[in-house]
Amino acid sequence: MKKVFFLLFLLIFSVSLFAQRLPRVRILATGGTIAGTGASADRAAYTAGELPVKDLIAAVPGLDKVAEITGEQVANVGSQDMTVAIWIKLNKRINEIFKNDEADGIVITHGTDTQEETAYFLSLTVRYDKPVVLTGAMRPATAISADGPKNLYDAVVLAASKEAQGKGVMLEFSESIFTGRDAVKINTTHVEAFNSPNDGPIGQVYDGQVVFYKQLLRKENKSTPFDITGMTSLPEVAVVYLYADAPATGINAAIAKNVKGLVTGGLGNGNLNKVNTTAVEAAVKRGISVVRASRVPSGRVVLHDETDDAKLGTIVSDDLLPQKARILLMLGLTQTMDKAQLQQYFFEY
Ligand code: SIN
Repeated sequence: MKKVFFLLFLLIFSVSLFAQRLPRVRILATGGTIAGTGASADRAAYTAGELPVKDLIAAVPGLDKVAEITGEQVANVGSQDMTVAIWIKLNKRINEIFKNDEADGIVITHGTDTQEETAYFLSLTVRYDKPVVLTGAMRPATAISADGPKNLYDAVVLAASKEAQGKGVMLEFSESIFTGRDAVKINTTHVEAFNSPNDGPIGQVYDGQVVFYKQLLRKENKSTPFDITGMTSLPEVAVVYLYADAPATGINAAIAKNVKGLVTGGLGNGNLNKVNTTAVEAAVKRGISVVRASRVPSGRVVLHDETDDAKLGTIVSDDLLPQKARILLMLGLTQTMDKAQLQQYFFEY
């Protein structure tokens, strides 16, 4: 009798082991080079955002062994045409998927040009801390040694991994893992196209294994106040770039357009030349929130340092580059126009 019970137990135990489900990963496709096709395999010219999500999944051998994969086409654009409207759609879909427990992790395939911006936007607005991993490719799907299938495989490994639980929005590219906040495209054509200029990657996906060796101390995801549920647009924020002898044309145009916010891609420690300092004074007087960022790829813009921010009425971006500072200012302006509070957002997020 004991033997029968033991055999029964063994049978139930092995059936339950086999029945253990793979993690569920939803792939949300938005286009980009990873879905691009070219006329020939040996030339770089191609059209981004051509292939549908089912073809992207089919091109990766072994993906179904890593996770239970489902796919959805959210958009199919080159990411130079990414819009706030698509960001809002993505955000809504991600929150729905997690709320309805449709997946354990999400992978977003995306063009590389604005991938870092989408990653930061989502890291500030998604209300769950389950893994959301952005990836893409530098070579189109039809190229020799296309990098898309490997990046997609690694992104799925990451999204499905227990190590990524609670880590929120990340970007995975060429085996490196970056936070959604700090990832920056650092090369126009090379396959190792991303880095985080201040801190480097936080981990690696290699040989199907995920390793983290750092963690972000900034607040992200569900701990931010930026719940955009129900919003269909965001306050307009312009970015103006500074250079030697730069005229105030850009800032004056932004003022004339009645933008709500302005980010300057300033020189060095976010510095402005004289004509642009006068233009910023005028913008602040008109009620425009102005953030001083820098065109320098790494380092901080320091409050009340070389520039008298108290006198000028400006906020600093801390270590956010202008394109990322714009996103935080757009979201910040959905909450407040109070300068001190906006500045606090830049120190916390
Ligand atoms: C794009 O951003 O859609 C084009 C470039 C790329 O994906 O690498």
